Amino acid sequence: MDIKFVKADVLKEKPESSTLGFGKFFTDYMFMMDYSREDGWHDARIVPFAPIALHPASTVLHYGSEIFEGLKAYRTADGSVQLFRPMENIRRMNTSADRLCLPQIPEDLALQVLTEFVKVEQDWTPSAEGTSLYLRPFMFGNDETLGVHAVHNATYVIIASPVGSYYKEGINPVKIMIEDEDVRAVRGGTGYAKCGGNYAASNRAGERAEKKGYSQVLWLDGVERKYIEEVGAMNVMFKIGDEIVTPMLSGSILPGITRKSCLEVLRQKGYKVSERLISIDELAEAMQNGTLQEAWGCGTAAVISPIGELCYKDVKYAVNNGEIGETTQMLYDTLTGIQWGKIEDTFNWTVKL
Ligand code: PLP
Ligand code: COI
Repeated sequence: MDIKFVKADVLKEKPESSTLGFGKFFTDYMFMMDYSREDGWHDARIVPFAPIALHPASTVLHYGSEIFEGLKAYRTADGSVQLFRPMENIRRMNTSADRLCLPQIPEDLALQVLTEFVKVEQDWTPSAEGTSLYLRPFMFGNDETLGVHAVHNATYVIIASPVGSYYKEGINPVKIMIEDEDVRAVRGGTGYAKCGGNYAASNRAGERAEKKGYSQVLWLDGVERKYIEEVGAMNVMFKIGDEIVTPMLSGSILPGITRKSCLEVLRQKGYKVSERLISIDELAEAMQNGTLQEAWGCGTAAVISPIGELCYKDVKYAVNNGEIGETTQMLYDTLTGIQWGKIEDTFNWTVKL
């Protein structure tokens, strides 16, 4: 598809890498295209980054018809820029679209517009240690009527933000609160889709956790409130004895691309890995008897984030004395090594621009 380019009058100053944080700065341009049932995807354009005008009855403003993705472009030592497993994000976007009755984007079109947009903005990819260009594709339903039904019109946008670490702790261990009141998702719902509504429903527990000094919450399943699910913006893994355990994909958690990559690295290195149900009782017991050796979260924004403390029903448990464990460090080094092109990508995960 042809992509129209509208040049910005002035380009922005690029921020100092020490000030980046997460999602505070945006590049000069954004990608947009529109969908209608009659015309399919059309009007692909890269335009100056600016507010988007919406009809006050637009579906997204009333019925939460929105999905998104998150992936990163990395600056390698030779100055080139590469993406990490972009087809995984493109496929997950279409899975989310299917759940929310939003239109599919053909995979080759999605890859074309993503790479053309990143090529335009590649100078924004920072080079300081631990920084990258976070890419946020998103799609929303955009019918101009108040009826509740699958939309006939949608808009797809990609914005980009130079980022440092997601948590203020960086690679240092974070404190996580296990939530036993609110739930995030249930099987049959939208937990496996990356849709805005899941995050809106998470905010109340997140706020409560932050007030108590925790970075995020760890969700339990929505039916029995018994099984571990995932953390607010990452999947979760535990090392209990000599077994690495992570909740299986049951429909209520996000099938994380970092999760999938960690499992592939762990299996290749010969670790004993299980994707299975983990009850809060099993975890509490492992915390009490000291067999819980490590816990970490994994996600694109958070990368690999060691968990140094878990709090459940107001009882606090230190994990690995609040220090980063050996397996957590190995995963961090391997994934970031591949992402920043410091170690050989034997998995073929990276895509050069
Ligand atoms: N779980 C949730 C709820 C998330 O928001 C994320 C972040 O994208 C993840 C897990 C990790 O997914 P990924 O590794 O694909 O970024
Ligand atoms: C990501 O890791 O890309 C995410 O989407 C997490 C986000 C909710 C900040």
